Amino acid sequence: MIYTDPKRIILFDTTLRDGEQALPQSLSAREKMQIALALEQLGVDVIETGFPVSSRGDFESVRSIASVLKRAVPCGLSRAVASDIDACAEALKAAERFRIHTFIATSDIHVRDKLRKDFDRILEMGVEAVRRARNYTDDVEFSCEDAGRTPIDHLCRMVEAAIDAGATTVNIPDTVGYTVPEEFGGIITTLFNRVPNIDRAVISVHCHNDLGMATANSITAVQHGARQIECCMNGLGERAGNCSLEEVAMAIKLREKSLGGLYTGINPKQIARTSGLVSKICSEPVPAHKAIVGSNAFAHSSGIHQDGVLKNRETYEILTPESVGFTGNTMRMTARSGRHMIRASLANMGYKDDEYDLNEIYARFLKLADKKGQVFDYDLEALLFCSTLEE
Ligand code: KIV
Ligand code: ZN
Repeated sequence: MIYTDPKRIILFDTTLRDGEQALPQSLSAREKMQIALALEQLGVDVIETGFPVSSRGDFESVRSIASVLKRAVPCGLSRAVASDIDACAEALKAAERFRIHTFIATSDIHVRDKLRKDFDRILEMGVEAVRRARNYTDDVEFSCEDAGRTPIDHLCRMVEAAIDAGATTVNIPDTVGYTVPEEFGGIITTLFNRVPNIDRAVISVHCHNDLGMATANSITAVQHGARQIECCMNGLGERAGNCSLEEVAMAIKLREKSLGGLYTGINPKQIARTSGLVSKICSEPVPAHKAIVGSNAFAHSSGIHQDGVLKNRETYEILTPESVGFTGNTMRMTARSGRHMIRASLANMGYKDDEYDLNEIYARFLKLADKKGQVFDYDLEALLFCSTLEE
């Protein structure tokens, strides 16, 4: 899938593959289908539906998802091994168009200690895998696993050979989340400068979050020419997870101008729903302070912040909760809230200023908040009528 518009960033979601492989329990075919349909609604371009050769169950769920997706392209993962590629094609063939994603590790440590081969053999295996996959589809992605730690000469040779063999997307994973943004951007730039046939493929990145750099590395990569980002909803994935879909999608949307007009096909209003669904189905709670989708991500607690937000939300909100599909009040009434907040909450509930004494209610509110932590609308309303509640 190559978009003609050079500003369009392809979002490749791997919640059902990299995300699922890191869950303590595997998902049922029905649960995977629910997630795939939600991802399609969200506007994801490519959905990595699983690793068909890994189990009969995975094969079947890849097959059923491939047969129902309408707009998103279904993709399956395979090692650079003939039987994996054949299984992938078999599972995906119900789809009108599909992608085979084949990979092999290219870093010295993986080549030597995991695969126990030399780099020239790895190069041959990668090329054979891409050629085999091309017999089934013209949408073939090749990944150089652990690219972030691969000697740059080897990486350039591998990328060039994979493209020559027919790869239409070449993925550069920072498999162990080791690189920092400037360094990762430098790898992408070097590939564009040194690989002669690079314009024939989409360059993709797949960043893990071991040092908390996954989103920053992915954004840096697109600033250096990558046009596909691989990511997971809620940042799920091996170890510290993958680049989080909602973070890159909103970073690209919010910083569109600074990023030279880049955009994705994501419908931001579907983010909250998809995040909630994935969290529930995977039994993986979203951390409260998680960017974009955490329960605290739009909460304002201190009096100074609340006062600012009541006057102009943009003082402390770079995006609104509504813009990513959340509804409801985001102000937290705590002991750090000021009178403005209390007055606004009472006004919201329909109480006029002359119906209560703000100083008196505020003093009682503070006593209650000191004991209780967060105070809710119904507590405040009770304070108006029940003078003993705070005792
Ligand atoms: O992290 C990684 O390198 C992967 C590959 C299979 C793309 O998940
Ligand atoms: Zn990965």
